[in-house]
Amino acid sequence: MKFFVDTAEIADIRDLAETGLLDGVTTNPSLVAKSGRQFIDLVKEICEVVDGPVSAEVASTDFDTMLAEGKFLSTLAPNIAVKVPLTPAGLKVCKTLSRDGTMVNVTLCFSAAQALLAAKAGATFVSPFVGRLDDVGENGMNLIADIAQIYAMYDEIDTQILVASIRHPIHLIEAAKLGADVATMPPAVIRSLFNHPLTDKGLAQFVADWAKTGQTIPTLPAGKKTKSVVL
Ligand code: G3P
Repeated sequence: MKFFVDTAEIADIRDLAETGLLDGVTTNPSLVAKSGRQFIDLVKEICEVVDGPVSAEVASTDFDTMLAEGKFLSTLAPNIAVKVPLTPAGLKVCKTLSRDGTMVNVTLCFSAAQALLAAKAGATFVSPFVGRLDDVGENGMNLIADIAQIYAMYDEIDTQILVASIRHPIHLIEAAKLGADVATMPPAVIRSLFNHPLTDKGLAQFVADWAKTGQTIPTLPAGKKTKSVVL
């Protein structure tokens, strides 16, 4: 399962990229507005930090302008995934850009029928929003189960399920159990995945017990190859 970070904060993206566990980035107009950054500069900077897909969303809603914006965004870096809304015009843009070899992320998906349309339009990713469905009293994860079941029925569908609007680690675990391809998470959710009180407790115990041995483990200088070393 691929892990994307859902943010427009470059400091968080840099920090998480350093873990070596980050596979991509998703942004949206709300996140960009919150960052206060100039969108195009920001997208270029993100693409320099992360090799995997970076979703950059169009701002217009009519076909011609969305297509023109999408084409422009796709020139910013080879790893851009143009993000378009799940509307008739957005899917038409998706079909056009996908045909030209551009990655497309179809966003604001709230039903299995919409996800089927995104696949038919050749989307690289479809983004069902689980948290926002939970917010209105529906079970967001049921949507992921439905899409996964439907996509698995058809060999010709290679659209990846990108679970979005993830609010907590349980969303991630449930999505992983359903075989979703990608989870995009806010930085705080990704950071929380590392934590368990028993890990902290166990490590403190190991450190304390090791200190009692009075021993040290020899270390190699940075960059030294490890395979042929004989101590
Ligand atoms: O980027 C799309 C999605 O992940 C937004 O999440 O928390 O605003 O519903 P949220």
